[in-house]
Amino acid sequence: MPGPEAAAGVAGAGNRGAQDSEKRLAVLISGRGSNLKALIDACADGRVNGRIVVVISNRPSAPGLAHAREAGIPQVLIDHRRYPDREAFDRALGDSLASHQPDLVVLAGFMRVLTPGLVRRFENRMVNIHPSLLPDLRGLDTHARALAAGVAHHGASVHFVTTELDSGPVVMQARVPVCPGDTPETLAARVQAAEHRLYPAAVEMICSGRVHAASDNIWCDGQRLERPLLLDPAPETKKSCVGTTSS
Ligand code: GRF
Repeated sequence: MPGPEAAAGVAGAGNRGAQDSEKRLAVLISGRGSNLKALIDACADGRVNGRIVVVISNRPSAPGLAHAREAGIPQVLIDHRRYPDREAFDRALGDSLASHQPDLVVLAGFMRVLTPGLVRRFENRMVNIHPSLLPDLRGLDTHARALAAGVAHHGASVHFVTTELDSGPVVMQARVPVCPGDTPETLAARVQAAEHRLYPAAVEMICSGRVHAASDNIWCDGQRLERPLLLDPAPETKKSCVGTTSS
């Protein structure tokens, strides 16, 4: 059985100096890693009281690994193609994660469906970002599907991961307008800009202890969260439709 291939970086260079209260974050990526970069920046400038202790990719060519490298964060490659089945891959992934003792596992564009065994291993300690206003538009191609549905608003959600895909309790959402003339690409760019504010904000709510998950619910400041927290819209979001035309 192949073991994880570790490419060591210089621990901590992209994070502030270790602080007692800061949480240990493990970030999982498969691709570009723009959300990883947003989290690295937020840890570095104190918006998130956390330290990214490892970045794990299932794809050797994931461009996002460069962000970890530049920040001096240890990277681990666990190539899913080298494992006989999903269970074996998830066992290796879970063992690697556990060895880094994360307080929170952060999925940031990790394009693998996780087995129930792995999800349970990190129950209430694993979050994902999904490009839609959940429970709407679970699954793939959310931007094209939002346009096809003719919705006025679209966005992104940060949710705790449960065994059902894109269905765990939602911590926080960011809403963006759908503008006249939008294509899946222009809409994706608007959502992704919002994601880069949303993910650090949601992760910080968890790192600070204000938000936690228990018994399929989210608790915020001691109260059961009835609906997801909503990220304040960026000042430029309202203006983003100005000047666009219907096609
Ligand atoms: C994001 O749009 C996120 O919502 C989805 O995957 C994408 C990852 O983008 N889960 P990046 O790799 O962080 O740039």
